[in-house]
Amino acid sequence: MNILILGGGGREHSLAWAVLQNPKCDKLIVAPGNAGIARIATCAALDIEDGGEVVTFAEVNAIDFVIIGPEAPLAAGVADRLREAGILVFGPSAAAARLEASKSFTKEICDAAGAPTAAYGHFTDAESAKAHIRQQGAPIVVKADGLAAGKGVIVAETEEQALAAIDDMFDGAFGQAGAEVVIEEFMEGEEASFFVLCDGETVLPVGTAQDHKRVGEGDTGPNTGGMGAYSPAPVLTEAVAQKALDRIVRPTVNEMKRRGTPYQGVLYVGLMIKDGEPRLVEYNARFGDPECQALMMRLGAQAMDLMHAAAEGRLDGMQVNWADDHAMTVVMAAQGYPGAYDKGSVIGGLEGLPETSSAMCFHAGTARQDGTFVATGGRVLNLTARGATLAEARDAVYAMADAVDWPGGFLRRDIGWRAL
Ligand code: AMP
Ligand code: GLY
Repeated sequence: MNILILGGGGREHSLAWAVLQNPKCDKLIVAPGNAGIARIATCAALDIEDGGEVVTFAEVNAIDFVIIGPEAPLAAGVADRLREAGILVFGPSAAAARLEASKSFTKEICDAAGAPTAAYGHFTDAESAKAHIRQQGAPIVVKADGLAAGKGVIVAETEEQALAAIDDMFDGAFGQAGAEVVIEEFMEGEEASFFVLCDGETVLPVGTAQDHKRVGEGDTGPNTGGMGAYSPAPVLTEAVAQKALDRIVRPTVNEMKRRGTPYQGVLYVGLMIKDGEPRLVEYNARFGDPECQALMMRLGAQAMDLMHAAAEGRLDGMQVNWADDHAMTVVMAAQGYPGAYDKGSVIGGLEGLPETSSAMCFHAGTARQDGTFVATGGRVLNLTARGATLAEARDAVYAMADAVDWPGGFLRRDIGWRAL
């Protein structure tokens, strides 16, 4: 099979790495890819949000199967264009990807499906949004309705913060994404992510994870795209997962099917768990980044068979072969991230890192310049390892981190602290 993966981050590096272990993969192209991905696959410059361009590229290169990594091409309808052209694709239609692209849409689906989630209000003008906040009081959560690259959520501890967030959003701080807001009840508990594959009808859990969103140790400081993750998530026990499937995931997938917009791809189910009861925080229409890196390290080659089965509507009867293992991924980011950061700093020590089925350095934002690797993004490297225990995985990951010679970068030393 000739496979095309869309995306160029650590998530896509780990997807490429898993796909390449599967003997069914003949040729792999990743667009746009990055310098780490270029070491294992062909990279192609392509506007991955332009469905027409992606279809033409897939046809010219005799691609049999496309895996879409990030949310932007999904929201732009790239999966729809591929399906119309008769090309097999893993990833939801734009209509189904609204589960990520619109917070108010997700809330509406939860209402229709009876899925437990935070109480909410949906507003299109600042005055009524503010009136709602004054009536509810703090803590309270303000969300821009649309895609805001993970930055459109303000967990306000005071009423003033919430009111200021409304002003920011309606003043255009998040562009069109903030033209509508959802205001939610603040939910207490422990967060974890549940990943399920869907083929429109059948759902198949493929793993759980927890990530660390704050930049600083002890989960302090500003929010990031994620500074590290580990799988499995101890808080997401089998009993909690079963409740989440029965009360949240299956009713959602059924409701999407009933509306004529079946969900096919991976559904990232963000949960808040309190006293063993899960409630939905959010859906994403893609694998989490960096959670995917830990999941791929645990799933290996079967990840491709599972995604392929989801795309072909064959999930019923598929099963995941679990090893009783743990994986951790630690992000190395450029100094300054998530604020302004420099690009172009040289990264040394990568050649000596292990590259095995239990330890990999996935690249998230690198380029190659005159034979050396340089940083090109905020999140730059994702050191990932697997072990019989989480502590073993952690020790392996930080041993890799110690071998990286990158003065321009930093990392958190406490990934997994809650579980360890
Ligand atoms: P979201 O983009 O919806 O996942 O929100 C980003 C983060 O904000 C989540 O991962 C949670 O940590 C937090 N969050 C979102 N909604 C709520 C809520 N209703 N109650 C508490 N925390 C929330
Ligand atoms: N790590 C969180 C996300 O991918 O949204």
